[in-house]
Amino acid sequence: SAGAYDATPFLPDDGELAAYRRAAADCRGCPLYANATQTVFGSGDTSARVLLVGEQPGDQEDRQGEPFVGPAGHLLDRALTEAGIDRGTAYVTNAVKHFKFTVLPERGKRRIHKAPSLRELSACKPWLRAELDLVRPEVVVALGATAGKALLGSSFRVTKDRGSLLPMPGADEQYVVATVHPSAILRADDREAAYAGLVSDLKVAARALN
Ligand code: URA
Ligand code: SF4
Repeated sequence: SAGAYDATPFLPDDGELAAYRRAAADCRGCPLYANATQTVFGSGDTSARVLLVGEQPGDQEDRQGEPFVGPAGHLLDRALTEAGIDRGTAYVTNAVKHFKFTVLPERGKRRIHKAPSLRELSACKPWLRAELDLVRPEVVVALGATAGKALLGSSFRVTKDRGSLLPMPGADEQYVVATVHPSAILRADDREAAYAGLVSDLKVAARALN
C-alpha cells in the first residue's frame, strides 16, 4: 500500500554484497534511519558456510558501524569459539539494520534499546534477503525471536523452536538453527545456564557444517 515501509526502492538492481552495503547506507525504507548514527550492514566472510542473524544493532554497533561489537557481541564471540565456530569464517548480520532506541534523560541520556516493530522488520527484510542470496550459507543461526520471525515467520517461538536443525523455508539444502539472543543471556537470572544453552544450540549449527 502507498506509504508502507519498504527498503526495496533503495536496493541496487544487482551487484556484489559490497554494492548492497553501500546502498544500505542511504536506506530510508522506514523511519529508523532518522535517529540512528548509521546503517549497520552485515559483515564477515562473504562466502561463509554459516550466517548469524541478530535483532538490530545496539548502542556500540550504532557508533562503530559493525554488528555485534558491544557486550552482546563479546558474549557471542566466546560462545561461538566454545561451540567450534570461528567468527572469522562466519557472516554476521541483523534482521533490522538501524538502531532503535529511546533516550532516558534521567539516566544521563543513556540510549535504551527498543524492539523493532513488525512493520520495521518487514521493511528491512530485503537487505537480509540479499545477504542470504549472496552469501548462500549452509546454516543460518537465528539469534532470538526477532531473527526467528524474520526467517521462519510470525509463528516462531524461541522456546519451542530452539536447538534443532530446521529446513529454511523456500530454500533447498539450507538449514536454520534458532537460539536465544545473546543480550537475553546478559539479563538472565541464571546466566550460566542460559549461556550453556546458547553454546549447546550453536553446537547443533557447528555439527551441521561438519
Ligand atoms: N544485538 C543485536 O541483535 N545485534 C547486534 O549487532 C548487537 C546487539
Ligand atoms: Fe532501511 Fe532497514 Fe534502516 Fe529501516 S531499518 S531505514 S528499512 S536499513
